[in-house]
Amino acid sequence: MATQRFPCANWTAGTVACTKPGRYSCKNCLLVLYCGQECQKSHWSAHKMDCKAPLGHKTWTPDWVQEKRQPAFVGDKPIVQFGGLKYLWGNVPAYDVLQLPSNEGENYKEPLRLLFAASGDLRNVLTTIAELPSSYSHPVEITMNDKDFDIVACNVIMLLIALVVDNTDVAVDCIIHIWYSSLIRKADLDILQQRIRPLIEEVCEKIRDKTPGSVLAKTWQFGQRSLRLVLQKSSWDNLLSFMNTPEGLSAKEANRIRRAVTLAESRKDYRDRHLLFQPPSRRIAKQRFREDGLLLPFGSRRDEFREPNPTIFHSTDAWPMPDNADPLNGWSTRQVEYCDTGPATADIYGKLFYHVNSVMRAFILRLSTLQAVFRLFQTDAAELVKSPNLEAGSFSRIEVSNITDGAYVGVHRTIFLMIPLLQTPLTNPHATLITLFMNVVDEYGMLPEEQMANWARTRAVMPRIVKYLSLKGIPDPLSLDMVRFIYAMGSVATYDHVLDRFAKEFRLSEAARSIGAAMKAKHTIIENWPFRLKLRPNQPGAQKEFDRLVSGGVSGKEFYVEWNRVE
Ligand SMILES: C[S@@+](CC[C@H](N)C(=O)[O-])C[C@H]1O[C@@H](n2cnc3c(N)ncnc32)[C@H](O)[C@@H]1O
Ligand SMILES: [Zn+2]
Ligand SMILES: [Zn+2]
Repeated sequence: MATQRFPCANWTAGTVACTKPGRYSCKNCLLVLYCGQECQKSHWSAHKMDCKAPLGHKTWTPDWVQEKRQPAFVGDKPIVQFGGLKYLWGNVPAYDVLQLPSNEGENYKEPLRLLFAASGDLRNVLTTIAELPSSYSHPVEITMNDKDFDIVACNVIMLLIALVVDNTDVAVDCIIHIWYSSLIRKADLDILQQRIRPLIEEVCEKIRDKTPGSVLAKTWQFGQRSLRLVLQKSSWDNLLSFMNTPEGLSAKEANRIRRAVTLAESRKDYRDRHLLFQPPSRRIAKQRFREDGLLLPFGSRRDEFREPNPTIFHSTDAWPMPDNADPLNGWSTRQVEYCDTGPATADIYGKLFYHVNSVMRAFILRLSTLQAVFRLFQTDAAELVKSPNLEAGSFSRIEVSNITDGAYVGVHRTIFLMIPLLQTPLTNPHATLITLFMNVVDEYGMLPEEQMANWARTRAVMPRIVKYLSLKGIPDPLSLDMVRFIYAMGSVATYDHVLDRFAKEFRLSEAARSIGAAMKAKHTIIENWPFRLKLRPNQPGAQKEFDRLVSGGVSGKEFYVEWNRVE
């Protein structure tokens, strides 16, 4: 059942597909592989629709240019949301929150406690455990919390699949589709309904007579690993619905309601602006994912995916995520691009598929020799810290995503809530609280008095952008190149001055110190501005680094701050 690596792309719905491995790519698009010329020829009538699609032409231009009108995003506010509000897929790349070798050291002999207080999806947990050195042999306790029930439900289901399905290939493949594909195979649905559902049903049965608001915990033990889930009674019952397709929802209807968001006519200019920065074949791949919502190598057989994914669809009328949600945004573009898709070098979702596959596989493998305890909660981070389950001064790492942004919990309150849970420097000098800020630069943008200084900074990066975008000079104000130019300027600019002002205005150092916290002078887990260009224009790899930044999902305005406790 596992997806074959490098499949020959010669298949059409309802026919017997070629089962040989693909060895040669289509030279025009580099998206698909064939076992040989015969298969390539016989598949051409199907493949040419993709291969010759206008999006893949070097000369492709957005509709707004052809229609000679102003694009919809001109004059828009910087952040515009369209579609649902769920973050079932993270929107910043995964990272290892421990980095044990360069912090506590590979031979660390103490147990580790990690807290993901606003976890979002599983990607940081998977990455952290997958990277844990094999020499580490002490217990690890991973506490995950998110206030969004849908996120917790998906996370618990995926972890249970990893823990109960013996065949790693099957488990990995199933988890990837449950996570990212809007339709799944019958075999995936069977795992949900036959392996996972009974575990939840047993709990629901036991707590049948409890009141809906009572909070109830269940611990499952799997050898030396365990998973504890703490939910309100009503949420336990609700969890069952994540394993059943909503009544009356056909695959066709599920596709229709997804496409109403991912291909909304009113959002075409926003999509086209993103496509402007993609290489031609990648535009075809991006369009394909918006059309069919399946995370697969481009040439993989798709006709087995017929069941609406019940972990994503909870009603017959809504797609839960924003239109720009993209599984690529949760992973390092660099690592994804390095992933091997054989000669199909433009198959970016194939690369992502194999990349997530390898992280998940490493996670499951590492877990098999680890004493690991997972604890999952679903509450507001502010409530979580009051729970007797979280012991003060016991966590080696606390990751809070961007609840430090003003729209969520805010920076002062987040630190105030979290810092007492962190180990003291005496217990562990490497213990770190990691906070992410995604909106500060847009919210604290620019003061009038900063405009002159900013103009000077902007002028300094202009020649670089002209070079990277292969322009002849500063483009005409109304040209397509100007759209690319302005967008690239936003990503390449540096924003330390905004962070400095924000830190001063919020009295971050003083406020932190008064509650026993300090910004770490030197980051040891993740850089302050991880997405900023590091190479100078003439250094090898500089163009690639720029292309990755402007074609990827980050804005370049995201920054991290690491904190520790002070006595
Ligand atoms: C702040 S959001 C933004 C998305 C995030 N950057 C990501 O990549 O997942 C991250 C997660 O925090 C959760 N969250 C927001 N406010 C929270 C709170 N007060 N307590 C716990 N979780 C919260 C959201 O449900 C979401 O899953
Ligand atoms: Zn073949
Ligand atoms: Zn082709």
